Amino acid sequence: MKDSIKIEVIDREGVSSTIETKVDPENNLMEVCKENDFPIRGNCGGMALCCTCHCYIHSDHSLKGKEEIEEALLADSFYYKDNSRLVCQIPITKDIDGLKIELAPDN
Ligand code: FES
Repeated sequence: MKDSIKIEVIDREGVSSTIETKVDPENNLMEVCKENDFPIRGNCGGMALCCTCHCYIHSDHSLKGKEEIEEALLADSFYYKDNSRLVCQIPITKDIDGLKIELAPDN
């Protein structure tokens, strides 16, 4: 696929899959995971309000920093870890090619 990137996703059973998606900075990783049938609810539609897209980042990519709202929501999560992110806040850019994420437990 031209202008596409690959993302490795580890599901809640520990199974790893690689998905390929078109670069589109208007789209985000929560939507791409949903399109690929991963059980991410995305209840707030990507507004950083629900925490149902909580994932752990397992690669060394330099991602866009967390906004205050994301940081606050994650800090309240029972499953918070240092590598926690809300993947609805990660746009689909070339920079995240090869990113490895793991779905956090469902809230
Ligand atoms: S979809 Fe609600 S916080 Fe990401």
